Amino acid sequence: MSFVVRRARQNDAAALPAIERSAAELFRTDPTLAWLADTDVASAAQHRQAIDNAYVWIAESATARLAGFIRARAIAKQLHIEELSVSQAFQGQGAGRQLVLAAIEHARLQHMHAVTLTTFRDVPWNAPFYQRMGFVEVEPGEHEAHLLDALQKEIEHGFAAERRCAMHLPLD
Ligand SMILES: CC(C)(COP(=O)(O)OP(=O)(O)OC[C@H]1O[C@@H](n2cnc3c(N)ncnc32)[C@H](O)[C@@H]1OP(=O)(O)O)[C@@H](O)C(=O)NCCC(=O)NCCS
Repeated sequence: MSFVVRRARQNDAAALPAIERSAAELFRTDPTLAWLADTDVASAAQHRQAIDNAYVWIAESATARLAGFIRARAIAKQLHIEELSVSQAFQGQGAGRQLVLAAIEHARLQHMHAVTLTTFRDVPWNAPFYQRMGFVEVEPGEHEAHLLDALQKEIEHGFAAERRCAMHLPLD
């Protein structure tokens, strides 16, 4: 299926919590991560703020249904992907890849140095997917303090440290 990817508008925000909740259902297929499907998602108010203050792109289906979104922030000339979610009904049809490509394209046009994210090393639709898009695992250093912070917060949230990794796609 082909999707239209565009910047999110304020009136998209109300639909995004349900998309994130639906996307997370995929984690039920791994008993050690099933609990993630029951954790809180960002509220519509938080999405409204992000739409104004960060970068949010939406994938829309041919029938104008919202299929997924990606949220990223510019940090020290790097575009950091905070969240990527595609609702169950639309998974496996290319929306996730198109959303990541939109973020990469934006970062290139803004002459940023890299696109970054944190993810699960061993979950098939996480690190292996990003690797196929050109991302490589990094050991974050002082120039990527936001990645150290993100990994630390995830551990506090209950993620197993050894399963998490930081990745970047260098653009220069
Ligand atoms: C990750 C996610 C956004 C991908 O969205 P999607 O629209 O299903 O992805 P696409 O159809 O574009 O597929 C992207 C790649 O992932 C692979 N993939 C998608 N779903 C998969 C699954 N369930 N198992 C294994 N691989 C999968 C596809 O084969 C594809 O590989 P390729 O592009 O190298 O050929 C979606 O699975 C999701 O919302 N997952 C739950 C939340 C999550 O894990 N977010 C990312 C956090 S870092």
